[in-house]
Amino acid sequence: MSEFLTKQTEWQQQAESSDDLKLQVGRPQSDESWQLLAVDVQEKLMLQLTDDLLDVGCGSGLLLSKLARNCANISGIDYAQAMVDKAQILLPNANFYCGEAKTLPFTSDSFDKLLSYSIFHYFPDREYALSVVKEMIRVVKPGGIILIGDVLDSSYENEIKSNSDLAYEQKIPYIHRYSQWQFYDLALLQSELSDLVCKFEVLTQPSEFTLSGYRKDIRLWL
Ligand SMILES: C[S@@+](CC[C@H](N)C(=O)[O-])C[C@H]1O[C@@H](n2cnc3c(N)ncnc32)[C@H](O)[C@@H]1O
Repeated sequence: MSEFLTKQTEWQQQAESSDDLKLQVGRPQSDESWQLLAVDVQEKLMLQLTDDLLDVGCGSGLLLSKLARNCANISGIDYAQAMVDKAQILLPNANFYCGEAKTLPFTSDSFDKLLSYSIFHYFPDREYALSVVKEMIRVVKPGGIILIGDVLDSSYENEIKSNSDLAYEQKIPYIHRYSQWQFYDLALLQSELSDLVCKFEVLTQPSEFTLSGYRKDIRLWL
């Protein structure tokens, strides 16, 4: 099985592994942390009550559920069917789709805001990530905002990967192995995308987030 399919299968299994929504998306932080995350995302996206919001890599919908009352319509897409099924139960009035981030099943200029949180490090490579961002730009209206959250900064890649216990990694799923995570040169990303957007910003995460040192949020203004 290819690494891509392995990761997709593991996310499917992760969704089915627990009834706890936080564990399903692999982030068992406290309720307070999740609330802080929701507020941070809402502010960075500048969500308005009239907004049509798309979440790419929505998981089982926990983060979206915390944003739902701040916008008009919610859609989510994830390549793990079990994630989509759980999200649809959590948010019955929202529209969920099973599909890959690189080929979004939406017409151009469909959404005001687009969120994609904590999925870019699972992508196979930088080229895949660039295709995803271009696809995101296609489906968001001019004047819209894209927030790509929790992007791993390549300045910290050596430090994090060299501190990982590779013997231990063999016992855990691919998706949880530091050695498999994709880190990004943020300056290079900016230079590659700056012609396609009005503004490219790298934003820091709240210092209360334990991993905020090496994880950044990217905001694209269209
Ligand atoms: C860590 S979870 C994050 C879920 C949610 N965004 C959140 O912040 O709670 C990563 C999610 O991305 C999805 N995912 C990973 N790669 C994907 C891809 N190429 N296309 C669509 N979904 C993907 C996984 O199935 C998983 O649900």
